[in-house]
Amino acid sequence: MRYLVTGGAGFIGSNTVDELVRRGHSVVVLDDLSSGKEDNLAEIRNKITFIKGSITDIEVVRKAMHEAEYVLHLGARTSVPRSLKDPIETNRINIDGTLNVLVAAKELKVKRVVFAASSSAYGETPTLPKVETMQPQPISPYGVTKFVGELYGQTFGRCYGLENVALRYFNIFGPRQDPSSPYSGVLAKFCTAFLEDSQPVVFGDGEQTRDFTYVENAVQANLLACEAPNVSGKVFNVGVGGRVSLNEVVRELGKITGKALEAKYDPPREGDIRDSQADISQAREFLGYEPQVRFEEGLARTFEWYRETQAKAAVKTEK
Ligand code: UD1
Repeated sequence: MRYLVTGGAGFIGSNTVDELVRRGHSVVVLDDLSSGKEDNLAEIRNKITFIKGSITDIEVVRKAMHEAEYVLHLGARTSVPRSLKDPIETNRINIDGTLNVLVAAKELKVKRVVFAASSSAYGETPTLPKVETMQPQPISPYGVTKFVGELYGQTFGRCYGLENVALRYFNIFGPRQDPSSPYSGVLAKFCTAFLEDSQPVVFGDGEQTRDFTYVENAVQANLLACEAPNVSGKVFNVGVGGRVSLNEVVRELGKITGKALEAKYDPPREGDIRDSQADISQAREFLGYEPQVRFEEGLARTFEWYRETQAKAAVKTEK
């Protein structure tokens, strides 16, 4: 099969591309490298087509989508705080960019678009775990853009018959998540803090919880969502179904590394959700999704990846 992966040089994108290539599919990656890295594709670079360009340019999207059967649309500006700082730019990339992908997909008659949606759409909904039937109540511009992406996909299904599936990711973490930006995901930051013996910085009291989901589980969901029958127009939670506080993460990393680092507590972050946990029964039923890697195992693997990556970088600098 022929796949286009937008954001394919990014964290979740490149892990997905690896698996597609492993299964023998033909893959085009479209990525503007604003947060993705060509290095993430190094191991399979000669087996794919890489196009450097932005989803905000519809001509580039059309070119990249030429002959694609499935589109995995993962290209986005992913950070909640960054969306509060610059909502217009987040809107332009996440909403206008998604619209471009859908328009091109309709024109080129792709079989299905799978959209990387977000648990941030749930926002203020008070009940846990989150179920897809709840009315979304986003509390950040980012959450709004991801919810609008779902609505656009479904509307293209109704108006033009374009098959679409939205996956609401719950805090995906794992190898290749970039720890270096102020907007990076918390586990990438905490792993590198433990590596460098610096204090992990917690925003708030650390009792906020997340359904931290190892990237391999998200990759599984991405591929299932492309091919599962009778799911067009549906939205699925992609998580593990658990809930871990940041204070527990710090304790767990202490166990993994044998280091007793204390967290540093800073004021809470604006736009933050307090608690997040997925009900994954819909994904189980309709996609056949079953998370294979639990939180503790995923965290141990992820820490090991950052350790190895840092060690390799040190050897390179010595040379
Ligand atoms: C994350 C994703 C978002 C995704 C959503 C749901 C990132 C950067 N964001 O948002 O794309 O749609 O999950 O899957 O991956 N925190 C700290 N210290 C830090 C950094 C963060 O305490 O150094 C706290 C935050 O205040 C927040 C929690 O950790 O309470 C999680 O933050 P973050 O990793 O940015 O993820 P979300 O905002 O949940």
